[in-house]
Amino acid sequence: MMGPVTQLTTGTGVPTWTISPAGPLRGDVRIAGSKNSVTKLMVASLLTGEASTVTNAPRLGDVDITASMLRAVGASVDHDDATSTVTVDASALTDCRIPQSRLNRIPILLTGPLLHRIGEAFIPLRQAGDQIGTRPVDYHVQALRQMGAEVEYTDEGIHAKALELRGAHIRLPFPSVGATESVLLSAARAEGRTILENAAVEPEIVELALFLQRMGTRIELQPDRTFVVEGQTHLSGTSQRLGGDRIEAFSYLVAGLVTGGRVRIMGCSQDRLVTAISTLQRMGAEFAIDDDGIVASVGPGGLRPAAVRTDPHPGFMTDWQPGLVVLCTQARGLSVVHETVFEDRLGYVEALRAMNAEVELFDQCLVGRPCRFEESGFLHAALVRGRSELHGAEIEMPDIRAAFAHLIAAATADGPSILHGVHHLERGYDHALEKFSSLGLEITPVGGALTP
Ligand code: EPZ
Repeated sequence: MMGPVTQLTTGTGVPTWTISPAGPLRGDVRIAGSKNSVTKLMVASLLTGEASTVTNAPRLGDVDITASMLRAVGASVDHDDATSTVTVDASALTDCRIPQSRLNRIPILLTGPLLHRIGEAFIPLRQAGDQIGTRPVDYHVQALRQMGAEVEYTDEGIHAKALELRGAHIRLPFPSVGATESVLLSAARAEGRTILENAAVEPEIVELALFLQRMGTRIELQPDRTFVVEGQTHLSGTSQRLGGDRIEAFSYLVAGLVTGGRVRIMGCSQDRLVTAISTLQRMGAEFAIDDDGIVASVGPGGLRPAAVRTDPHPGFMTDWQPGLVVLCTQARGLSVVHETVFEDRLGYVEALRAMNAEVELFDQCLVGRPCRFEESGFLHAALVRGRSELHGAEIEMPDIRAAFAHLIAAATADGPSILHGVHHLERGYDHALEKFSSLGLEITPVGGALTP
């Protein structure tokens, strides 16, 4: 029988900020380690009884939420903010139940490691993660079943059991980031060889593969986005420094551009931003790039409109899309943005419209070839007419990337804004208050700490 399910929240920060725009944002921002890597490396640490460390770890809500989940199954997790180091010691796992969390997508990734260590896993499924589409976990479940797990859907979530996981030949219907990670985490200690075709190859996934390789897994990435993993019965603890967060890096470059300022980002290598930089250059941004950092400012011709389609890596990433749409509101002319990864990732434009942005949504595939959402009825493409003078507004921020989009729209507006739902921003952005304040944005936190 399953025990009671605990509700987790980040328990940090305050619910509301007021934003008083004070002109162009200028200055340097040190980019933290990648949010979408750190949590996966923490999960991978459960594959062994020896301690592992992740350095250059960001300070954000998702790390705290993931740490709570790992502690709930008996691991000890230490996050030293002074040295940006997370240490996970899973020598004594005692439980196979992950507490309920509506706040991130990590629980399903714990299935493989818990099956290897305990033989059983209970994963809650209630609407986990940002509400940007239906976000099912069918690819994860199908892959686990192919590897020999018995998986059942119950009223509370997923119940999985396996005496041992075996290597399998798996082909994903779509290059899902999470499902690729699930398979790598399950294959790392499985008996025999796993071949994973049509895998996602985002830099954060390669980072997980490198961590697993350091732990002792035999893993290779073939040129056609196929992973081949030879599972090993024993894996060792390891240590790895995270690369810079390319979503945070893009977000701050755009924060500078959209306010007519100049932001230099440091700590995220150029090779993670190739498509981002070329897209912003096409829109009229000028870049100065050296080994210390990347600076963007608007060129003498001003901002030009864009036609952009989001895609799995190495395409223009979906997490960059909300910031890009805000930038399009400040470019003269018609921009078109086609979201092809999540069917419902444009809901945040409602608030932009309330701020006077001209954005129309369409269910047609407006840029490039038709995507999976053609004829689905989902409003997954946007037509933006710029340039709009944005006004301050009171906004409920719905998810991490939308929150950043609303924040930079507020920074561009002609008057103050009130932003609710700050915990979304703090879940995904390291020290956001300090970083924005150092760029010259006046932010006043309002209200008490969130109650757990
Ligand atoms: C990861 O989500 C990231 N989250 C997302 O970042 C990111 O937007 C996304 O990858 C795409 O890059 C984390 O890493 C924690 P997917 P994930 O599986 O893994 C469909 C942020 O703000 N799908 O690649 O959940 C799915 O519905 C977050 O940092 C299935 O149909 O994304 C979607 O349409 C938001 N069945 C598509 O695949 C499945 O079993 C891509 O999703 C799995 C996915």
